[in-house]
Amino acid sequence: MSIQFDDQATFWLFGYGSLIYKVDFPWLERRPGRIFNWSRRFWQGSHDHRGTPDKPGRVVTLIKTPGAVCEGMAYRITAQEFAHLDHREKNGYVRLVTDVYFQDATQATGVVYIAAPDNRAYLGPATEQEIARHIADCAGPSGENSDYLLQLAHALRELNEVDEHVFTIERHLLALRSGA
Ligand code: SIN
Repeated sequence: MSIQFDDQATFWLFGYGSLIYKVDFPWLERRPGRIFNWSRRFWQGSHDHRGTPDKPGRVVTLIKTPGAVCEGMAYRITAQEFAHLDHREKNGYVRLVTDVYFQDATQATGVVYIAAPDNRAYLGPATEQEIARHIADCAGPSGENSDYLLQLAHALRELNEVDEHVFTIERHLLALRSGA
């Protein structure tokens, strides 16, 4: 599927990671939304935000999972915002067109940034405990990797979303911090 870009056009951007809580772009409308058949996973490396090329942090990407639901936040934005967003998400993410579903049962065609397993920063699966240890030990130009995790977990709770992958990593991280 392809989208025609012109300066007047607006698009729904679906955010499922830092795009839920770090909104450094103008938007026209914002609505909680969901997409189907994708799971949020801390399987992407971060060389430029929450880690460095020598010591990449871990951030979320989406993994194709038939039957899964991923909750997030959708923003209606103009095409001009993609220059900034493409730069922000440049470490392995590409834009994908997807259907976004809203709480009032309406839907729209949207755009989501996904880091596929063939990108050079991809780290892949690990246990939630290993991921928490990894996150506890990393930082990059955008701050500590643990802040990314904690802010995402907080933002998901505000959306009334239960994401066991994220919340389990958060529990492990908090246990590490308390010396458990
Ligand atoms: C997103 O938030 O939608 C993409 C991943 C990220 O920037 O954390």
